[in-house]
Amino acid sequence: MTPVNGAWHLAARPAGIPQDSDFEWREGSAPAPADGQVLVRVEWLSIDPTNRVWMNDADSYMPKLELGSVMRGIAIGRVEESRYKGLAPGDAVQGLLGWQKYAVVNGASVTKLPSLPLPLSAHFGLLGHIGLTAYFGLTDIGKPKVGETLVVSAAAGAVGSLVVQLGKIMQLRVVGIAGGPEKCSRVVEEFGADACIDYKSEDLREALRRNCPSGIDIDFENVGGRVMEVVLERINLRARVVLCGMVSQYNAQRPEGVRGIERILVQRARMEGFIVSDYLPRAAEALKQMIDWHLAGRLKYKLDVVDGLEYAPQALRRLFEGTNQGKVVVRVSEE
Ligand SMILES: NC(=O)c1ccc[n+]([C@@H]2O[C@H](COP(=O)([O-])OP(=O)(O)OC[C@H]3O[C@@H](n4cnc5c(N)ncnc54)[C@H](OP(=O)(O)O)[C@@H]3O)[C@@H](O)[C@H]2O)c1
Repeated sequence: MTPVNGAWHLAARPAGIPQDSDFEWREGSAPAPADGQVLVRVEWLSIDPTNRVWMNDADSYMPKLELGSVMRGIAIGRVEESRYKGLAPGDAVQGLLGWQKYAVVNGASVTKLPSLPLPLSAHFGLLGHIGLTAYFGLTDIGKPKVGETLVVSAAAGAVGSLVVQLGKIMQLRVVGIAGGPEKCSRVVEEFGADACIDYKSEDLREALRRNCPSGIDIDFENVGGRVMEVVLERINLRARVVLCGMVSQYNAQRPEGVRGIERILVQRARMEGFIVSDYLPRAAEALKQMIDWHLAGRLKYKLDVVDGLEYAPQALRRLFEGTNQGKVVVRVSEE
C-alpha cells in the first residue's frame, strides 16, 4: 500500500530568523520508486544552522532551494521498497531525504549505514556530518600540537562540544565560549574544557586574556561576527583559524564584516574555511577513532530530541535563539 507522506515545503524566503509562515505543510501519497530509486521511511531528521543558508535566494556551497520545494535536510531512515540493486528493504540509509516522512530518492544518492553498537541517532550526534566536521576541522586545518591553546565558539553545541573533547584528547588547553551559565558549566564539567566564557554576561576580551595567558594557537570558529573579532585579537604567531561556521550571521540581512583581519597578517596566521563533504573520502579514518573514543568513555555526545516532524520549524529557530541543549534532531518515526 502506498504510504501517506507529510512534508514541509519552503513557502517564503525568511527575513531574519525563519517563521512558521516561511514553511507550508503538505500531505499526499508518496510516489512509487522508479528504476534505480528507493522508498525510505524517515526516522531522524538533523536540524542544522546551514538549513537557514539554503533558504536564501542565493547559491552557497549548494544550489539555493527553490520556493515550493520540500525543505532540504539531512536525514536517516529505513528502506521500505527498493528498485536499486545496492539496497534492500530494512537497510538504514543517510542522505538528503528532506523534511518529510517518506522520501523517494536515487539509491546512489544515499549512504548505507553500517550496523554499529550504537543507536542510529549517533550518526548525527557523534558521527556523520557533525563528527567529521569536528574531527577534520580540528586535525586537518587546526593542526594541533600538544600544549597549544584552542578556543572553540558555540562550545556547548553539536560540533563545538565534540571539538572541545577532541581538543582535550589531543592534550590542548581548551577554552570554550558559549551563551549562559548552564551551557558554560556543561562545557567544563561534562565535556572537559579547562574554562568556558559566557559571552552573554562576561567581558569576552578580559576573559580571554585571563583564560588564554599564552595567547590562542587555534580558533575553531563557529560563530563569526563580534565573538570572532575579539578572539582574533589574541591569536599567536602562526595561529590557525578554522573557519567552520558563522552562525551569528546567517539571519542577518546584511552580514557584518569581521574587523581585525590585519592580525592574521601580523601574526602570519592562516585562516581556512571548509565544508565537511570535502572530507567524505577520508571518513573511515575519523569514524573508527571517534567510535573507539566514545566506547572508551572519552567522547560524549548530547542530543536535543524534538518529537514529531510538525515541530521542525520551531526546532530550527532554537539554533538561532541558543535554546538548544546539544545536537538538535527531530524524531520523525520510531527507530
Ligand atoms: N563547515 C561545515 O561543513 C560545517 C558542518 C556542520 C556545522 N557547521 C557550522 O558549525 C557551527 C555550529 O553548528 P552546530 O550544528 O553545532 O550548531 P549548534 O552549535 O548545536 O547550535 C547553534 C549554536 O550557535 C550559537 N548561536 C546562535 N546564534 C548566535 C549568535 N547570533 N551569536 C553567537 N552564537 C550564536 C548558539 O549557542 P550559544 O547559546 O552558545 O550562543 C546555538 O546554540 C555553525 O556555524 C554551522 O554552520 C559547519
